[in-house]
Parts: sequence; C-alpha cells; structure tokens
Amino acid sequence: TDAVEFTGAHQAGIVTPAQDRLHFVAFDVTTDRREELVEVLQAWTAAARRMTAGQDAGPVGALAGSPYAPPDDTGEALDLPPSGLTLTVGFGPTLFTTADGADRFGLAARRPAPLVELPAFAGDQLDPAISGGDLCVQACANDPQVAVHAVRNLVRLGAGVVSVRWSQLGFGRTSSTSTGQATPRNLFGFKDGTDNLKAENTAALDRFVWVGDGDPGADWLAGGSYLVTRRIRMLIEPWDSSSLVEQEQTIGRAKGSGAPLGQRAEFDPVDFTTQVDGEFAVPERSHVFLAHPTNSGTAILRRGYSFVDGSDGLGRLDAGLFFIAFQRDPATGFVQVQRNLRTDAMNEYVRHTSSAVFACPPGVRGDDDWWGRALF
Ligand code: HEM
Repeated sequence: TDAVEFTGAHQAGIVTPAQDRLHFVAFDVTTDRREELVEVLQAWTAAARRMTAGQDAGPVGALAGSPYAPPDDTGEALDLPPSGLTLTVGFGPTLFTTADGADRFGLAARRPAPLVELPAFAGDQLDPAISGGDLCVQACANDPQVAVHAVRNLVRLGAGVVSVRWSQLGFGRTSSTSTGQATPRNLFGFKDGTDNLKAENTAALDRFVWVGDGDPGADWLAGGSYLVTRRIRMLIEPWDSSSLVEQEQTIGRAKGSGAPLGQRAEFDPVDFTTQVDGEFAVPERSHVFLAHPTNSGTAILRRGYSFVDGSDGLGRLDAGLFFIAFQRDPATGFVQVQRNLRTDAMNEYVRHTSSAVFACPPGVRGDDDWWGRALF
C-alpha cells in the first residue's frame, strides 16, 4: 500500500521489488511536431509524480473542478492507497528513425546504436499489431485498479499526440527482484526468479543492467536501461499432460522446492557437474542449463508477469508469460540468452507472439525534471 519514490538516479519499476500487477502499454506517436511530444512527456511526468504518491492525476482532481468540464482525474483510484505504483517510461527505436529511415523529430543522431529492433529468432510467431511501439509505459502496482487508472490517465493526457498501439495486463509477478521477496510461481507451476539478478547485488546491476557513463548514448541514457518485452504464450494443455519428471527435466529444477535438480534447497547453487545414476542431474537441453550465465555468458534482470487473456476460441487458454527483461545492452542481454535457448526443451511448450524493445532513460531528478529531458 506504500508509495514508491518516483525520483532518483534510476527509474522506479526496474529494481523496485516486483509488485503483483502489471499494465503495460505501448504507444505510437501520431504528431510530427516535436513540441507536442515534449509537452506530453512533461504532462506525463507531472501526472506520474502525483499518481505514484497516491494523488489524483491532475492538480485539481476528480471532484473539485468545474462541474461543466471533464475532471482532470478519472476517479477510479479515489480512496485507494498508492499501492506501490511505479511508472516506467521507455523510447522505442521508431521514435528516433522510422522503418523507412526518416528522422521524425530530429532525434536520429541521438539514437544509441544498441537501440535497434530485435533480430528474428527461430520459432517466433510474432504479431506486428502487438509488437513494437514508439513509447512505452510500464505500470506496476499491488492493486490492478491503481495500475489501470494510471495508464488510463496517461492515455487521456496524450490524446491527439500519442495513441495506444497495444497493451497487456499481467498478474502474479513471475520474478522476484529482491532477496526480501519469496519466489512466486509461474503458470507452469514452477518457482520463477530464483536465480534472477537482485536489487541487493549492485555490482551485478552496474555490470548487466544500468547503461554506464562510457556506453553509447550515455549523454542522455546513462543510469537508464534497455527494456525488452516478449509476450510468450504457454501451451498449457500439452504441458498439463506431460509427466512431473518431464516437466522437471524441461526446466532443470524441482517443481516443489525449486531446487536445481541434484540439489536439495531452492537457493543451492546450480551445479552442472552433479550426476544422478550416471547422468547429469540438470539436462543439457533444460531451460536452466541453457539460460544460466555459465552457458549463456551473460545475465539479465527478469521482471515478467503471467497473463490469461481469456481463451482462443478453440477451447484453449490464451495464457502465458509477459516476459520483461532489463539489461545494459539488448545484444549482450536478451538477444544473447534467447539465441542460447534455441535448443531449449521448453520451446515445445511456448510460442513468442509479440516483441518490443525500448530505451528507458535514467530517473527524474529534481522538481522540474521530466521524462527524457536530456534527450530533447
Ligand atoms: C530461469 C521459466 C522464458 C531467461 C527460469 C526458471 C524458470 C523459468 C521456472 C528457474 C527459476 C529461476 O532461476 O528463475 C520460464 C518460462 C518462460 C521463460 C515459463 C516462458 C514462458 C525465458 C526467456 C528468457 C529466460 C525468454 C530469456 C531469453 C531465464 C534466465 C533464468 C531463467 C536467465 C535464470 C537461469 C539461471 O541463472 O539459472 N525461467 N522462463 N526465460 N530464465 Fe526463464
């Protein structure tokens, strides 16, 4: 129920202990006027500052304005606490340069080299209508109504300048991002986030998550991070008809305890040399084997959420993991891990249906700072 500080060196919503609910939204910018875009980013920052503190989106509020004008807040979060709301903004590659190479807002020269569309991966079944975007806002909160209220009010403030391209609701955080949090389970029933990068491990965050002072685009992006989203449909029915042994061999961890196969407790170190009955305990095609830093050569901060978007008309749940990862460079982060997962036994049970990448600027500093000021 508490408020999370909005200002700081980094944006909230990255290493902030993962809240329970997500409303993620990607926008297309529909104006070609740079001043209009800047005005929206300024209005968004002011509203985000207020809403994350548990206040109305606008200074007058849902009730106190003229009865003959639309209120500057939509009202559905009245009486609700801040609920740990964080709002995290990101800029997509197409904000800088359109697909056909046009420099839309005089920003082309400021696009950091790592901010490019992700490459295609084997098995991708991406739907372009729910992929990409010029801007994104990740809203996380412990109450879904608070997250939805925040996104709705930002959408309203952006009317005529930005329009919603796609959005995704999520529940049941599938990662823990702090050692203080118990590890939640994903829709396969496994603990997810055991071996995640954690907020307490600041040396690893500096190495793998935050854009550094000497990195491309550091003049506006240092202290920021790259956000990759993948909507991953989980094929629940085939998974549910596979045996417990098959499920554990697919992941590489025990379903109950979350321990690496061959070990006892959840946080026992993963050891790929451990053998059971003459076989390696963690199979070479298991998800954990291939994703682990020993074999992927890198690390990412995972912060995804489960989703169930109803059913697909064929009697199957349209369910899965809305995967979110933060990293210092997508090429040495998500892309490197995902390439290494090419032979993952889990691929039989998952389909990637949407993809996006954004550069998230550093945190807002003082009272008159706003999202992306150093970029514009
Ligand atoms: C670990 C599930 C997709 C990267 C894990 C674990 C589970 C899991 C149960 C073990 C617990 C843990 O350490 O967190 C899933 C499911 C996915 C999925 C159900 C899709 C529906 C991905 C993707 C990536 C990824 C797309 C990145 C490209 C990782 C990494 C680890 C991990 C880096 C930690 C491995 C380690 O250090 O031991 N995942 N995952 N996962 N996953 Fe995934």
